Amino acid sequence: MNKKERARERREKRRQEICLLRSIPYSDHQRWWTSDTVAVVTGGNRGIGFEIAHQLGMHGLTVILTSRDTSVGEEAAKVMREGGLKVAFHQLDIVDPSSIESFSTWLNEQFGGLDILINNAGVNFNLGSENSVEHAETVIKTNYYGTKNMIKAIIPLVRLSTSGGRVVNVSSRLGRLNGRRNRIGDVELRHKLEDIESLSEELIDRTLNTFLEQVKDGTWESHGWPQNFTDYSLSKLAVNAFTRLMARELSDRPDGQKIYMNCYCPGWVKTAMTGWAGNLPPEEAADTAVWLALHPDLSVSGKFFAERREINF
Ligand SMILES: NC(=O)c1ccc[n+]([C@@H]2O[C@H](COP(=O)([O-])OP(=O)(O)OC[C@H]3O[C@@H](n4cnc5c(N)ncnc54)[C@H](OP(=O)(O)O)[C@@H]3O)[C@@H](O)[C@H]2O)c1
Repeated sequence: MNKKERARERREKRRQEICLLRSIPYSDHQRWWTSDTVAVVTGGNRGIGFEIAHQLGMHGLTVILTSRDTSVGEEAAKVMREGGLKVAFHQLDIVDPSSIESFSTWLNEQFGGLDILINNAGVNFNLGSENSVEHAETVIKTNYYGTKNMIKAIIPLVRLSTSGGRVVNVSSRLGRLNGRRNRIGDVELRHKLEDIESLSEELIDRTLNTFLEQVKDGTWESHGWPQNFTDYSLSKLAVNAFTRLMARELSDRPDGQKIYMNCYCPGWVKTAMTGWAGNLPPEEAADTAVWLALHPDLSVSGKFFAERREINF
């Protein structure tokens, strides 16, 4: 068997393991949620978000499927309701503060808050082309600032429970701080972002602003940023860093008021984002998000996961 075949075999074995894990039902005494447990999914109209919403619905929760486009979101929710799931829809554009505000108000009035938030909405990396100013701004504004604004707006609405509120941020291994091939070259900056004592929201924002300034003046290539999908990688690096920061902030809460926030990489997935070139179907890619959202004994926060395992930032 050659190297390629062995790699294929390993991948297939891992896929079978994941399928097996997925098929393990949460036993009755482990089900901490009920049909009144509310899970919000951003960007739920397609791709991985649609699947996360679908799987949470299949586990019997009330799912709030959100989408920036009302008609496609309504349609996605309708498909799930027709399948017997408890799914409501509301418009939500994560880069529009007024949309976040009207969604939060509606959520509070209709459901008295939520138990689980899945920050899935995101935009793609630059498949092949240069970092245009417009593309870099959109990617960073959506993936990082949109996610951050959602977290800030939604945290006060998380309902108190003994199982703890759950926030899962859909991120990417491309945003790893210490990835072997795609990391920030500036060692000092990397250490500052890595060290929870020096990590701050201001540092994360400043890092992204510096990059955007360099994209605007055309000098970004000589500053040692990640080489692959630079704007996308930095947006996800920022999501990961913000996850760690928020998890630390939330860790002071007493029992009964806990909120666990983690991020995960879904893998390389067959969705519109990759031009359907990925090697995983969205059904498998959604698995770790659902697992983190529903795990009966979740006690970790501020960690990065892939395929139900903790991985390094
Ligand atoms: N596919 C992969 O291989 C891969 C790998 C690692 C991480 N991820 C992450 O997984 C998440 C889902 O990606 P996907 O692969 O499922 O891609 P997708 O099929 O392109 O779906 C992206 C979703 O995000 C929504 N969205 C984009 N901007 C939004 C905004 N401003 N407000 C609300 N929703 C917005 C899109 O809505 P519209 O339909 O209106 O555009 C769509 O529902 C993303 O965060 C992505 O970065 C994907």
